Amino acid sequence: MKVLINEEEIHRGIARLASQLHERYGKEPLTIVAIMTGSLVMLADLIRSLEMPVRISLIRASSYRGGMTSGELTIENGDMLDIRGRDVVLIDDIFDTGKTLAEVTRRLEQHQPRSLSTAVFLNKRGNSVVNQAPDYCVFDIPNEFVVGYGLDYDDLYRNLPYVGVLEEADLVSHQRIYDPSK
Ligand code: IMP
Ligand code: MG
Repeated sequence: MKVLINEEEIHRGIARLASQLHERYGKEPLTIVAIMTGSLVMLADLIRSLEMPVRISLIRASSYRGGMTSGELTIENGDMLDIRGRDVVLIDDIFDTGKTLAEVTRRLEQHQPRSLSTAVFLNKRGNSVVNQAPDYCVFDIPNEFVVGYGLDYDDLYRNLPYVGVLEEADLVSHQRIYDPSK
């Protein structure tokens, strides 16, 4: 697999995001709303770099069903924390078409946070179909399908400590290794 962003670069990128958040929010308490499952790894790293009091709330959104094609967006916010009057940062793994971030933003705004900003680990250039851009992007990437550091293909590869581009040869071995019917 071709490595696009290595561990060291990721580490520096997350530290950069943490300092941007410190600059903006100072010592004010923050509520981080993280879109599962993709932002799990980013969440774990980011919160350990933050010095203000932090509350964490998880919501689940999925739009990619079994591969690379975008399906219908489903959002479950189960037992989301109360965000009324709070400073909220919404985080996600990647901004692709932007539909997920735009829809989750719209829903969070209905709960009247004091402020709401958005931060994504990756921003895929040139695919957006919405008129909203993330406030913070750790990395801009070209329009390729990537995995690792939380991002999956078919629910796999999330545990890779780097970001890799999934290539044709990887897909062949993916099928051989992971398809239980083969
Ligand atoms: P959007 O709604 O099109 O912006 O898609 C956002 C979601 O699609 C992300 O939360 C990811 O789960 C998924 N996604 C988009 N591009 C990729 C990719 O290159 N690799 C893995 N997942 C992706
Ligand atoms: Mg996702």
